[in-house]
Amino acid sequence: MVLARLRVAIWITCLLPLARLAWLGTTGGLGANPIEFVTRSTGTWTLVILLATLCVTPLRQLTGWTELVRVRRLLGLFAFFYACVHFSIWIGVDQFFDWPAMLKDILKRPFITVGFAGLLLLVPLAVTSTDAMRRRLKRNWARLHMLVYAVPVLGVLHYWWLVKKGVQTPFPYTVAVAVLLGWRLLVWVRRAR
Ligand code: HEM
Repeated sequence: MVLARLRVAIWITCLLPLARLAWLGTTGGLGANPIEFVTRSTGTWTLVILLATLCVTPLRQLTGWTELVRVRRLLGLFAFFYACVHFSIWIGVDQFFDWPAMLKDILKRPFITVGFAGLLLLVPLAVTSTDAMRRRLKRNWARLHMLVYAVPVLGVLHYWWLVKKGVQTPFPYTVAVAVLLGWRLLVWVRRAR
């Protein structure tokens, strides 16, 4: 019952940013540069939901509530969804489907390169997120899903690279990634001992 309510809360919370964008879009509230607004908003939400996904395991370990793990996939898929929307806006609205220009951007601009790498890493995670895939891949599933640790690292790197010098907005996200990955390292070291 609690888990079902949590799932509903996750669905609502994760769809709210999209609803807000749709609302602002239809009421002319996206500001002077709507493309930038939407790109930034979806990028931020990709990172936030990725961090929420990474919170599941430490919370489960701290509270002992093992069922919590069952919302991890939902959160991960929402992160992937926002990453796809973010990328699609860049492809369609920012770059106007100019494939050679996009390739050049991916190869030449470091912040685009790492953002793209993050998105690419999310693809196999999303594709293999089903129970059937988990059973099929057996131990390799856990190995493959270690990739999830690299994605937020690439996400914050992408963020630092795109902000102007002196802007500190990526800092709280960097701290969150460091804490969440540091926690895992601590648990791993304790178990190895
Ligand atoms: C896991 C994948 C990704 C994450 C976590 C991510 C995250 C972010 C974040 C946090 C921002 C800044 C938001 C702000 O300024 O408030 C951003 C902006 C942006 N991202 Fe991403 N991103 C990802 C993938 C990509 C990809 C694949 C592309 C395109 C190839 C891309 C292109 C951009 C662009 C063009 C901006 C706006 C830059 C500007 O304002 O000048 N991102 N992204």
